[in-house]
Amino acid sequence: MYVCLCKGITDSQLREAIANGGSEFKRLKQELAVGTQCGKCVPVAMAILAEETAKTALYYEVA
Ligand code: FES
Repeated sequence: MYVCLCKGITDSQLREAIANGGSEFKRLKQELAVGTQCGKCVPVAMAILAEETAKTALYYEVA
């Protein structure tokens, strides 16, 4: 699904960028330009970032 309509960024693109080391919103913003126009996508992008970060945290707890 599209997260950022202004820049045409999907949740898959965001998740991939996060998996490749984009654990800070600032970095995602620089890499994908998410949230750099109207900013309406920022809450959803932040939620995806939190969700993906939590998955990584669980992975480390189990491993
Ligand atoms: S929807 Fe992402 S900057 Fe406008």
